[in-house]
Amino acid sequence: MNMDVLTQQSTQQKGHAAGANWRNPGAHRSQADTDRLMNQLIELKKKRNAVILSHNYQEGALQDGADFVGDSLGLARSAQETDAEVILFCGVHFMAETAAMICPDKTVLIPNMAAGCSLADMVTAKNIRDWKKKFPDGVVVCYINTSAAVKAECDYCVTSTNGIKVIEQIPKDKDILFVPDFYLGSYLKAKTKRKIHVWKGYCPAHQAILPENIDRLIDDHPEAEFLMHPECGCTTKQMHLADKVLSTEGMVQYVGKSDAKEFIVATETGILHRMQKFYPDKSFYAASEQATCHHMKQNTLENTVLSLLNMQYEVKVDPALAKRAIKPIERMLEIV
Ligand code: 13P
Repeated sequence: MNMDVLTQQSTQQKGHAAGANWRNPGAHRSQADTDRLMNQLIELKKKRNAVILSHNYQEGALQDGADFVGDSLGLARSAQETDAEVILFCGVHFMAETAAMICPDKTVLIPNMAAGCSLADMVTAKNIRDWKKKFPDGVVVCYINTSAAVKAECDYCVTSTNGIKVIEQIPKDKDILFVPDFYLGSYLKAKTKRKIHVWKGYCPAHQAILPENIDRLIDDHPEAEFLMHPECGCTTKQMHLADKVLSTEGMVQYVGKSDAKEFIVATETGILHRMQKFYPDKSFYAASEQATCHHMKQNTLENTVLSLLNMQYEVKVDPALAKRAIKPIERMLEIV
């Protein structure tokens, strides 16, 4: 295997870490280098009997090299269904951890262990145990953006696709404790009219989308439909303006069904790659160019190739912890 491209890229990645174009890790790459890396990836995938799963926020080249691209729920389902021996997870750590718990007999790799989740880090297992003391009969619902240690303390897991459905299964008289995303929790509370107590976590990438961004884009593109992810910090002020509140995959699917030709997209900017690729005759406007997840961008085409080459970095969950943490995930997967 020709390692020149990788050696050269890892030098450039030092620049990336030092503040070069981290929002677009592929910006420095020539088409010839991209093609070479893609060929290496295809070769290694066969050799390792691996499947590559990519979240919608990954850089475009990674999405193009993946076997499946989707949202958190779709990725969890793909992990559940694959018969490959190795799952190379191009996403953030909690997603790979979820796949490792769903598929304990497979090797789950992530290209860069630094691909964490600021939102998931905003609640700990101890926080939940302490909170539950105040609501001993409460039902704890966690967003999938949580660590295995947190999931182990919870009753149900949800994603941005299925939160309403899952919450509707919980007996009506129960208090619900929702962690960690304040905006998704508030959205679910408004939609289900349930007694939901909401943790005050947030996603910094979505928080970067400001109400004035939305107002300006709506003024500039009055024909555009406004699609919003429920993690958006603008939820409370701008939710009434949204044509649809959807998961990342929900947004991609919706664009295909809609007659509209223009869309304002309020989520992480990586999703525009797939939208533009699938629907080249439609126009997409990022609600904010600042809405970029620096964790997701830790995975690059270069370190994804290295991941399969060196079988690094394996994501494992202690079996005793996994036994508890898988329960809320399994309950979710049974419902939806
Ligand atoms: P989706 O499940 O909608 O892709 O969202 C995952 C996520 O982490 C959003 O920040």
